[in-house]
Amino acid sequence: QQETIKESFAKYRQLVATFPRCTCLSSECVPLETAFFQHKEHGWISRFPTIVNCLVAQKYFVGRSTDVFVSSLPKSGTVWLKDLVYKIKRRGGNQDHKNDLLSPHQKVPFLELQVYASEDHVLDIDSLPSPRLLSTHIPYPSLPTSLIDSGCPIVYIWRDPKAVFVSDWHFFNEIIPSEPGKNHPPLTINEKFECFCNGYSIFGPYWDHVLGYWNAKKNGANILLIKYEDLMVDPVVQLKALAEFLKLPFTKEEEKDNIIHGIINACSFQTVKDSKMYESGNTELLQVQVNNTTFLRKGKTNDWENYLTPKMAERLDLLTVQKFADTDLI
Ligand code: A3P
Repeated sequence: QQETIKESFAKYRQLVATFPRCTCLSSECVPLETAFFQHKEHGWISRFPTIVNCLVAQKYFVGRSTDVFVSSLPKSGTVWLKDLVYKIKRRGGNQDHKNDLLSPHQKVPFLELQVYASEDHVLDIDSLPSPRLLSTHIPYPSLPTSLIDSGCPIVYIWRDPKAVFVSDWHFFNEIIPSEPGKNHPPLTINEKFECFCNGYSIFGPYWDHVLGYWNAKKNGANILLIKYEDLMVDPVVQLKALAEFLKLPFTKEEEKDNIIHGIINACSFQTVKDSKMYESGNTELLQVQVNNTTFLRKGKTNDWENYLTPKMAERLDLLTVQKFADTDLI
């Protein structure tokens, strides 16, 4: 008899509870739902339910070559890229615009946080028409085999680890006080920094996550890597590359009509911050209601300077130079 999805969730919950628990990020007294664990086979770190959901996704997700995936580490600019990909894919005539006013996380849902959110919350993505726009923070080696085999395009956004660290520190320690069971004192920035440098960060180690996608691309996977800082400096170049990668290059007429700038402006930090789209509510991630505005904080490349000492910055830079030594990432 075939296992039901409820049984799969129960089975993987039992399994993940046997994985190593990361006590440096969440003490023993923290409830399972918010505790950090390490994926036994691939070594990455995340919240207990996320690893469970990732295993469920691995079992149930059926990929299509027409899917488009946005992938990233949290706090790398995922929400921005989702918006850009959505606008590129949905431009032109004969398009369905009924979802345009939803937040990017609703338009491009996360596999492990929204699609397979829990045994009682599974989105029916099998009945969605193609092309489906989906996203994930899952490290490349743990992606569902069906996703990889489909050969669908994956756009991966990555960001200076100093900025990722500072953004993450704000998001998880300050902005989300409503997390269930969060009755332990938040880590100080120094404690969390020590963890981050030692590889203990959400979906981390940071460097392994980036290298996982970089290596896969090097080995022929259908991946485009975009750096947050490059998108900031030269959005036109990055957007053209993105549209070409998605096999929807901007036409001469579109260029003449300023469509590229139109998309850049519509997705810019300030426009989005002022828009109703973000004021309009919450996104449910892992059954936690997260106000859409919390995904927008500063939207700058150098805000980390206000939080990290020169010594901390130097340490992260050195680690990055070492870890990315044999790549074209630096
Ligand atoms: P900061 O906290 O540094 O401001 P993610 O979507 O992966 O969680 O990333 C969130 C980070 O991207 C936040 O960084 C957020 O402010 C920034 N961001 C969100 N939308 C943006 C946009 N349209 N332009 C630039 N940065 C944006």
